[in-house]
Amino acid sequence: MTADQQKKAAAIAALEYVKAGNKVGLGTGSTANHFIEALAEKARGGFDVECVATSRASFQLAQSLGLKMTTLEKQPHLDVTVDGADEFDANWQLIKGGGGALLVEKIVATSSRYMVVIADQSKKVNALGRFPLPVEVVPFGVNATSWKIDRALRILDLKGKQVLRLKDGKPFVTDSGNAIIDVTIGHIPDPRRLDNLLKSIPGVVDHGLFIDICGIVLMGTDDGVQTFRK
Ligand code: A5P
Repeated sequence: MTADQQKKAAAIAALEYVKAGNKVGLGTGSTANHFIEALAEKARGGFDVECVATSRASFQLAQSLGLKMTTLEKQPHLDVTVDGADEFDANWQLIKGGGGALLVEKIVATSSRYMVVIADQSKKVNALGRFPLPVEVVPFGVNATSWKIDRALRILDLKGKQVLRLKDGKPFVTDSGNAIIDVTIGHIPDPRRLDNLLKSIPGVVDHGLFIDICGIVLMGTDDGVQTFRK
């Protein structure tokens, strides 16, 4: 099975976690796109759900496939959010934000009764940190914020290589108008402490560590979909 086939298998398995009448958060990225397609197909067969998207890209895909869309303003409490991840560990902690949608993804996931992560096998890690941690920052004073990120890492005896994310040679701009600094750390021994330290930096809007947010991971493998449930 290719990684994409594993993603698709996990996405289809996630349909089990959505009940008729549910308000559903739709994630962002290639795995979430498979879920949006599968849910839209089910909805065309008469399965009634209302969805909130975590990015403009997911909104456009879902709407073009005929899914009924709403907003978090109208529906502040969702039943379930299904999203991909860049990494997950044995404690259901995640790194997300490779696609740049981490801020809205976190807002939507934490507004849901539970979050289901769908992933291919490559996303499972022993310790978070191999994937560069995306940190969403206000563009004003980005170098000062970067220095404070470095200081936070040093408090934890960590070193991180920071790179301002670019798109077409220009700073990447998130759907919320912010920049992203990708921080390669390699190994994050205490994700919870790093979460708190990063969140305390003025200029950091949010970051890609999802701590205690996800309770179920569905991972596509060559032998079927494996479920990790808290
Ligand atoms: C989007 O910002 C991310 O959090 C994605 O969910 C994550 O990057 C996984 O992406 P893929 O499903 O494309 O691997």
